[in-house]
Amino acid sequence: MKLNDSQLATPWTLARRMDRMNFSAIRELLKLSDRPGIISFAGGLPSPKAFPVEEIAAACAKVLRDDASSALQYASTEGFLPLREAVTRMLPWPVDPAQVLITNGSQQALDLVAKMLIDPGSKLLVEMPTYLGALQSFAPLEPEVVAVGNDADGVDLDDLSRKAPGARFFYVLPNFQNPTGKTMGEAKRTELIARTAEAGLPLLEDNPYGDVWFDTPPPPPLAARNPDNVLYMGSFSKVLSPGIRMGFLVSPPAVSAKLVQLKQASDVHSPIFNQRMVAEVIKDGFLDRHVPKIRALYKAQRDAMLAALERELGGLGASWNKPDGGMFLWVRLPEGVDASALLPKAVDNGVAFVPGAPFYASDPDPRAMRLSFVTASVAQIDTGIAALGATLRQVLAR
Ligand SMILES: Cc1ncc(COP(=O)(O)O)c(C=O)c1O
Repeated sequence: MKLNDSQLATPWTLARRMDRMNFSAIRELLKLSDRPGIISFAGGLPSPKAFPVEEIAAACAKVLRDDASSALQYASTEGFLPLREAVTRMLPWPVDPAQVLITNGSQQALDLVAKMLIDPGSKLLVEMPTYLGALQSFAPLEPEVVAVGNDADGVDLDDLSRKAPGARFFYVLPNFQNPTGKTMGEAKRTELIARTAEAGLPLLEDNPYGDVWFDTPPPPPLAARNPDNVLYMGSFSKVLSPGIRMGFLVSPPAVSAKLVQLKQASDVHSPIFNQRMVAEVIKDGFLDRHVPKIRALYKAQRDAMLAALERELGGLGASWNKPDGGMFLWVRLPEGVDASALLPKAVDNGVAFVPGAPFYASDPDPRAMRLSFVTASVAQIDTGIAALGATLRQVLAR
């Protein structure tokens, strides 16, 4: 059974923070797309074709065979040391394993950082639009969330400088952003680092998609440029599997212990069996062999979606970007067309997407929508984008 808010009436006095916790409007809208036969570009899921099932099976067996007594026991909060050491080797700047905290997906890193840095009413800065799951993580801490404007390659730095005074941190996704697919250029990264250092504004850098580039790698992370002012989040969800819930948070040494204390209070440690399994899978350079296959798969699907959009929506007044990596493409519908209003009509025609509005902390763009190009097959992309074009033509004809 799925609950909606009206079913949650209770005589108990709930904490004030619960006023901020609601199922998102898109969750309700997307229930429509659960119907069989709907082609969905709405999900945020990686393709199951990218899961290295055999390697994971072999690693699980090996961990149980060789290390069962430790793998099934309680473990340290910081995480399995060989995995933390492997993480440091994946990063292009010097990191001590003591700075790496293994988390339950990078989503948990958002929760821990929020608890560490936000008091009720604290100002924090986010991009416009930004990852919806981060807004959900921050919400129970009751912050004042302020959106910073964006241009073609990311953050509007003048707007950032204006809004920086008094902010606790700026949450930023420089690579193949969710939802827009945009990547921040080299010059902007340099300038962003200079301005935030000057303003004393910490950065929370979220990089789950950075390895999933199509032609050339993105510029080095922000954390590589000023490690003492950046909290850096990474994830194994997009390169191995999201179901194993393995992510990591790299912090400046001055706050690493605070984050360990918060994690200990929250869940003691991330599943040690999964940590040992991941360490086993990725030893010997497995990701260097595996991730190029994901890049090739997703690039072909991106190209199929771009071609279908040109064919089916070209000339209708819509526009979209060409992401250089990641999983998402951002479409702006023609003047006067509201993506949330379009969704039920699109679902009637057999296709679903996510309207862009919920990704904005304020001033949503009603014309925006996010399309995932990674879970539908090329044939489904062709059929689904044709259905989207037909829906748009019906709406424009009225
Ligand atoms: C931008 C961003 N950050 C964080 C996450 C959380 O990922 P995970 O908890 O699976 O590492 C996601 C998931 O889609 C995401 O898109």
